[in-house]
Amino acid sequence: MNFLKGYFGEFGGRYIPEVLIPAVDDFAKVWEEAKKDEQFWKEFLHLAQTYIGRPSPLYFAENISKELGGAKIYVKREDLNHTGAHKINNCLGQALLVKRMGKKRIITETGAGQNGVAVATVCAKMGFDCTVYMGEDDIARQRPNVFWMERLGAKVVSVTSGTKTLKDAVNEALRDWATNVENTHYMIGSALGPAPFPEMVREFQRIIGRETKEQILKAEGKLPNKIIACVGGGSNSIGIFYDFLQDAVELIGVEAGGKGIEGDEHASRFFGKNGRTGIVQGYKSIFLQNKDGQISSTHSVSAGLDYAGIGPEHAFLHASGRVKYTYATDDEAIDALKKVMEKEGMIPALESSHAWAQAMKCAPKMSPDQIIVVNQSGRGDKDIFLIADVLGDEAWFDFLAKKSKK
Ligand SMILES: Cc1ncc(COP(=O)(O)O)c(C=O)c1O
Repeated sequence: MNFLKGYFGEFGGRYIPEVLIPAVDDFAKVWEEAKKDEQFWKEFLHLAQTYIGRPSPLYFAENISKELGGAKIYVKREDLNHTGAHKINNCLGQALLVKRMGKKRIITETGAGQNGVAVATVCAKMGFDCTVYMGEDDIARQRPNVFWMERLGAKVVSVTSGTKTLKDAVNEALRDWATNVENTHYMIGSALGPAPFPEMVREFQRIIGRETKEQILKAEGKLPNKIIACVGGGSNSIGIFYDFLQDAVELIGVEAGGKGIEGDEHASRFFGKNGRTGIVQGYKSIFLQNKDGQISSTHSVSAGLDYAGIGPEHAFLHASGRVKYTYATDDEAIDALKKVMEKEGMIPALESSHAWAQAMKCAPKMSPDQIIVVNQSGRGDKDIFLIADVLGDEAWFDFLAKKSKK
């Protein structure tokens, strides 16, 4: 392990334009102080309980476990958080830091819109001006979240450059930050970006793993054998993994295999043929890139996993072998989603359905005294348009057609 500040092995660091250095330095200083301040964590925990609704339950998915006939599957219900995903844990923590810095304007990027909704929510609560950058394609597939962001008072900027998805939204947000650095904070939504963001986002998301450990020990008197989480930028996964890194627990991160990893229509940084070390958007990690080092376009049915880069701590954990990574295709994620809806009465987000797909592959090969924990990072209500498309729900199309005529 390389203990240079802001690095995880060779990955991480702070590769930013000069104009941003004072802002990131100031922010890093505020974070270093807050990290050691009991009062800060007390306020964070209080709001986590009263505003987010933590602790989120750990639920035993008995029906699916029985049907698969192997390990017991427990589900960490981050989908039950206020705003419907894990993203709010990080937004709340960063908002408390921004309050300390005295800045009044927050910008962010969003893919699935979950981060955008969570940022808009905390901005409404804390009285910050809010701008969300979102790729035009993501706006089209996640319209319900755009609607709510705007109702919550955020300005949603449609990004029409590049592939019109998350990486282009990040670029636009970085541009805005460089122009308005005096009064603006960039609330990065995943465990990536220049230091100290990856470490800081992890610390705000660690609450998932801490609660899980306590809950599973209470329910089963032992630790799980496997913990499975989907990996976009990497925040829900590092959040649940971190407190188990020293334990004999297998940790599995699931990337988006899209239409299969042989071609280019996926977002698997570790299994795609174009995943290589690079320095992009302020940090060093593994990125899907072409031979000239330009970022490749990616594909996933889930907007939140559709990103060419991965948080630097994951790049390190992959290189060290401590965390195992794999991928689930669009079809596997959708099949898993259908099963969870039908057997357990839950609607996981398409992102989280990737973790479920892997759990369904593992569980039958395990014995009933073994335990899997799936991190259900978000709820799937936002995916209604996509899922209805995939399932070809004619009544839904009819309803939309009638609505649009009104
Ligand atoms: C519900 C949900 N899960 C997972 C992710 C992926 O992000 P991360 O890897 O940072 O947890 C997203 C991103 O938007 C999301 O909305």
